[in-house]
Order: sequence, then C-alpha cells, then structure tokens
Amino acid sequence: HGTSRINEQGHLEIGGVDTTELVKQFGTPLYVYDEAMMRETIRAYKQAFEKSGLRYEVAYASKAFCTLAMCRIIDEEGLALDVVSSGELYTALQAGFPAERIHFHGNNKTPDEIELALTAGIGEFVVDNFHELKLLGALASEKGVIADILLRLAPGVEAHTHEYISTGQEDSKFGFDMKGDMAKRAVVAALTTPGVRLIGLHSHIGSQIFETDGFTAAVDIVAEFFGKCVRELGANDLHKLNVGGGFGIRYTEEDTPLTAEAYIAAITAAVTTAFDRLQLTYPEIVIEPGRSIVGAAGTTLYSVGSTKDIPGVRKYVSVNGGMTDNPRPALYQAVYEAMLANRANEERDELVSVAGKACESGDMLIWDVKLPQVKADDILAVSCTGAYGYSMASNYNRIARPAVVFVQNGQADLVVKRESHDDLVSHDLIPARLTSGVL
Ligand code: LLP
Repeated sequence: HGTSRINEQGHLEIGGVDTTELVKQFGTPLYVYDEAMMRETIRAYKQAFEKSGLRYEVAYASKAFCTLAMCRIIDEEGLALDVVSSGELYTALQAGFPAERIHFHGNNKTPDEIELALTAGIGEFVVDNFHELKLLGALASEKGVIADILLRLAPGVEAHTHEYISTGQEDSKFGFDMKGDMAKRAVVAALTTPGVRLIGLHSHIGSQIFETDGFTAAVDIVAEFFGKCVRELGANDLHKLNVGGGFGIRYTEEDTPLTAEAYIAAITAAVTTAFDRLQLTYPEIVIEPGRSIVGAAGTTLYSVGSTKDIPGVRKYVSVNGGMTDNPRPALYQAVYEAMLANRANEERDELVSVAGKACESGDMLIWDVKLPQVKADDILAVSCTGAYGYSMASNYNRIARPAVVFVQNGQADLVVKRESHDDLVSHDLIPARLTSGVL
C-alpha cells in the first residue's frame, strides 16, 4: 500500500518513517496518514478526467476525514471541498480554503449553517428538500445574493453495499424522489424561488461500491431528467452533473475495488452516451469521493496490553483504543487487516481477535487475524483506517481521541494533537449548588 514497506529492522515504515519511531515520539493510539498516497489518488482521478477531455470537478467529501491540514492538501491539489455541517465549513474556512470551491451538502442544514455559508460566499449548495430551498431562497434574498444550487435527487438506484451506507434508493431520507413528480416539482420550485440559481443536478448512490453499473444506471436516469429540465422546464443555467462519491477501497483481500480510471471511464462514457442521445451539450461532471482519497492512506497504531486465552475458543488481544477511534467494525461489521508494526517480518502463526478497551462486548476491532505470538507492548498496525475513523471517533468511556500525523519523505508532522484529560473536562461545568465540600 502506498509508500509503506518493511525496513531493515523488520519494522513497518510509512512515508519513509519507521512506525516504532512514530510511537516513541507521538504515543499510541496514533492515526498515521501517508500523504503521498492521498495526493497520488487525487491525481489519478484528475488524470482520468483529463483523458476524457470533458469539463469536470473533483470534490473531496470531507466527512471522511476533515482537519485543517487535510483541507490544506485538498486546496493545494486544486480540488473542491464538500462540507455537510457548519463544523466542516468552519474548518475549511479556518484552513484558508477558498469559499468559492466549497459545496454544502446535508438533509437538514440549519438556518445558522446556511447563514454562515452565505456570509462566507461558498460556491454552491446541494439542496436536499423543499424546506431547505425555501429557507435558502429567503436568506439569500435577505442578503441580496444569489446562491448557486444543485438539487439532490434520489434516482432509485440501489448500490450493493451495507444498507446504512447506501443512499440513492427510493426509501431514503436524502434528496428529491424521482419515481413520482417530487423531483419535477423541486425543479419548478427552484426556478421560481428568488435568491437561488439552479446550476446542476446531483445524485449519490452509496458508499464502498465495487461496480460501475450503479453509477451508469444513476447517470442514465439523472441525464434523462436533466434533458427534461432544460427542454421542458426552462432550466437554462443547468450545466453540472454531480454523480456523488462512493468509490470502494480494499480493506481486505475480499474487497475488489476498481481503479479510479475505471470508475471515471464508466461515468464519462455513461454521461456522453446519454447526452449524445439527448443531443445536449455535455455537462461539467462532478464526483465527490471521500473514502477512496483517505481510506487506504490511513493506518492506526495501537499498543497491545492484556490478552485472554480461552483454550479451544479464542484468544483476545486488547489494544489501547477501539470503537472510540474506529467505530466501523461495531457499526457496520467492517473488516480490517492488521500486523505487528514492530515485528513485521515474523511468522504469523497465531490466530487472535483484537479487542478495544471500551466497556462493551461489541468493541472488537478484528475477529480472527493471524499475527506472530503477540505480547504486551507490541505495536499493532491496523490498515485502511483513514476514512470515517477519526471523523467518527467519540469520547465514549471518556477515552481521549488520538493524535494524527501526516508522514511524507521521511518526515512526520503532527496535524491533530492528542486530546488530554483536561480537554475532556474542558466543557464541563459544576453548578454552584453542587460545589459544597468539593471546591
Ligand atoms: N457525497 C455524498 C452526498 C455522500 O453522502 C457521501 C458519503 C460521499 C459523497 C462520500 O462517499 P465516499 O466516497 O466516502 O464513499 N460512515 C460510513 C460511510 C458514510 C458515507 C456517507 N456519505 C462508513 O464508515 O462506511
């Protein structure tokens, strides 16, 4: 994976940095991101589009992993940025990310969030529902500005993925339904709402997708509707077709993602075919990958603590993190691979299960993984944790969130500090009536 290798000491090295050195310097648990790998993936998407000669935009879905440093990388690489909350928006703005390249998503943007986005002058809103359309139109008009919008459509396409992470099907909280007349009514409403300009249509069919047929099916449906909007409804400013994100990555051998090139080739082919048929000018094609940009570039380093051997049943190996830094196994039965970073060359002759430290039986990071005979203080490296790990981390059990480092060219940079115990109580208050005898 990426710049990872096993060095002369038999240690896992990422970005030219020995992970055992990272542990000495920054402690564990630690999220380590291979910066070169992220940049490489981004460039692969761009190159695939360049080949097509079509107008395109790649937006990074920051929900996968959003920090100031990450926003800087996305800006340096010239991508647009998707945000889904005022928190992500604020992070982007604090990182100096150009507002005009920010897209605002979400099925329940609050008035305060819309206000912040309008004030910042973000590039576009992906409007999810009638309530939002009305609210945005009113707030934009009040400010005397016009907000560029895309309408989020639910094309009724089911991606083959875990049901909690598939979003394009009909029975979904997201977007305007295309089966009835809801989507058409949304377009008419958008065209008659002051303060907004309809510039595009959007669909997102799900996440961790390994085939192209879902994208092709969604493009067909949305392109057909695009034609209707232009020809019959007078949507003259329509020029963007956003097909969402969802490109899969290889967590384990069983996963079979396609290359960036293959996904983009299928999408561009579907778009050109549909628009040729409709005899319409090709739209600007937009994708918004999150997981595939950061997922495989992230590795989490843990320290091993206790073990429990139940003869004939299972050996549990506990690490100093778990569902608080990576809730995906508990939430989605997600499967990960791991290795001992400090003994990367040793024979893996023991089958163990890796447990987290939270007080919950479900806090298991990996059921059944082959490792060398594990002992306390070994360093366990879990790979492909870069997406929806840090961004979904919690403080359950008042466990502090780990630090994050970016590594490249033999250099490690701390990009998120480890939370301290003081951080954990920093928002707590004790009402005066409870302080007697204590303070
Ligand atoms: N665009 C929209 C509108 C989305 O809803 C999402 C993800 C993306 C783009 C980016 O999708 P990606 O390329 O990252 O697959 N927490 C779950 C994944 C939730 C995805 C939500 N939407 C997980 O850990 O698997």
